[in-house]
Amino acid sequence: MNKITIAIDGFSSTGKSTVAKQLAKHLGYVYVDTGAMYRAVTFYAMQNGLINKIDFNAEALIYQLSNIEISFKFNESLGFAEVYLNDVNIENEIRTLEVSGYVSQVATISEVRHKLVEQQQKMGKDKGVVMDGRDIGTVVFPDAELKLFMTASADTRAERRYQELIERGDDVDYDAVLNNVKERDFIDSNREDSPLVKADDAIEIDNSNMTLDEQFNKILQLVKMTIEDC
Ligand code: DC
Repeated sequence: MNKITIAIDGFSSTGKSTVAKQLAKHLGYVYVDTGAMYRAVTFYAMQNGLINKIDFNAEALIYQLSNIEISFKFNESLGFAEVYLNDVNIENEIRTLEVSGYVSQVATISEVRHKLVEQQQKMGKDKGVVMDGRDIGTVVFPDAELKLFMTASADTRAERRYQELIERGDDVDYDAVLNNVKERDFIDSNREDSPLVKADDAIEIDNSNMTLDEQFNKILQLVKMTIEDC
């Protein structure tokens, strides 16, 4: 059976990674969470004092980019690949609201994007990949056979994100999560380099009122149709 590239873009907390993981498992494809890569660079900047509430030393981060090595290793018990920064597992550390508060700023830097896009293109060069992010269907794989663009209302997304953080044991406030979701939507959609936009040939999926099963079945149907057409 032909292997295809599946690009899943959309706003933050639209459930891209949930459906991408389900699809990759079902199809035996590789899943790449590109948001985790931007979060890893952000975590590096935080650890090295390059970004905090007052200051963001983008120049120093650009200068130090060659010190940053991001990799993924499959975790059998979790069923997906976790992200590593310079060989240290940082899967949990990058999911905090603090990292979410800085990551969109880091993702505006063209040098960061260039480095990560190059790595993403290498990871997906043999197809058989499900990649989620903001610019996968527009910049990373503009020729992807199937492009999805996920949306849901800001309230729905903030509620989902809030529940996830609470379940992790993080002490967070709902309004802070909602503000973060809205702020990231704004920065991600308005940055100069590779802003979040729906590719002309992407299929939009609003999952505000869909169960996970309904969403998965709908998307699997689209995947099957796309593979048949190839
Ligand atoms: O998918 P996520 O919420 O983990 O992504 C974190 C941030 O990274 C998001 O606010 C914007 C940025 N990002 C990006 O600019 N391009 C991508 N391909 C993936 C994420």
